Amino acid sequence: MATRITVYEVGPRDGLQNEARVVPVDGKLALIAALVNAGITRIEATSFVSPRWIPALADSAELVERLPVRPGVQYVALVPNGKGLERLLEARRKGAPPPPVDAAIFLSASETHNRKNVNKGIDETFRAFDDVVGPALSAGLRVRGYVSTAWGCPYEGRVDPRRVAEIAERLLGLGCWQVSLGDTTGVGTPNQTREIVDLLSSRARPGSIALHLHDTRGTALANVLAGLDAGITTFDASVGGLGGCPYAPGAAGNLATEDLVYMLQGMGFETGIDLGKLVDAGALAQELVGRKLPGKALQAELATRARAAERAGEASP
Ligand code: HMG
Ligand code: MG
Repeated sequence: MATRITVYEVGPRDGLQNEARVVPVDGKLALIAALVNAGITRIEATSFVSPRWIPALADSAELVERLPVRPGVQYVALVPNGKGLERLLEARRKGAPPPPVDAAIFLSASETHNRKNVNKGIDETFRAFDDVVGPALSAGLRVRGYVSTAWGCPYEGRVDPRRVAEIAERLLGLGCWQVSLGDTTGVGTPNQTREIVDLLSSRARPGSIALHLHDTRGTALANVLAGLDAGITTFDASVGGLGGCPYAPGAAGNLATEDLVYMLQGMGFETGIDLGKLVDAGALAQELVGRKLPGKALQAELATRARAAERAGEASP
């Protein structure tokens, strides 16, 4: 049987948080519906962070209330503190039926990026998680954790993998069911990926580590391969390669979901995703943000479709 790989879609959150054009809530919901239609079952839909810090996701409460509830589809929202969790729980309650939305907490492996991103040091950020993890678990949510700048920090340079492993283990110890290692500014290369994952996987339960790769320098798929070799089975990606981090200068989009799915399917892995329908979602994402997205498989498929439409036009009288 083919190995199943979980593709964890972050476009509506990580992608749209960083777009110059703010997509209205109806557009966000249409994009999420298109992703669900393509067979994606894990979608990071939005953030309950400060709307002053991330204005593009200020509509998170309305979005969560209106999320489509579909069998097997699980959503996630970023939550930085107790206030964020309260807002998420309230929005979930108002949904009819209440949508399944888990929480994700996040911090960086480097002090400077953490301070720029959440206005706190690392230890202080862990203290803020006390108001999130216990109450979220008691309310029946699962909590995912992110370690950003795990391969390198835009302010401090290379990050010691032992530091990454230590923070990831601390998140797992708090009760996170999975920790996603973030290459926030896409600086990682495969040997380093192998080193980080090997260090952790000897200590973490299988499936509890995911990779969240940005493709700033074109190394994201190479890092996926290194991750697959080391036993990773969950990869974060964003439709069309939307994304970045507003508090990490130079961060480009995430690994494009279409590129990831194209490669995984070609290698015989099972994803449960229909690539053609995923391209439809990518085309919609482009329309919503009003720019051509960097995903290569998306652009190749759209070009093929355009040529086929042209030929069909020439053939018809
Ligand atoms: P702060 O300004 O230090 O907050 O921000 P504060 O606790 O001092 O409160 C100041 C005001 O904000 C108060 O309001 C609070 O109520 C309000 P006031 O009394 O002035 O009217 N506030 C909130 N409002 C709504 N929701 C909340 C909330 N919390 C406080 N949750 C804070 C601290 C963490 C809130 C802020 O720094 C923040 O929102 N940062 C988020 C930055 C962010 O979202 N970055 C992008 C996501 S991370 C990422 O992209 C990386 C990742 O993809 C992985 C990777 O690529 O590596 C995950
Ligand atoms: Mg990210």
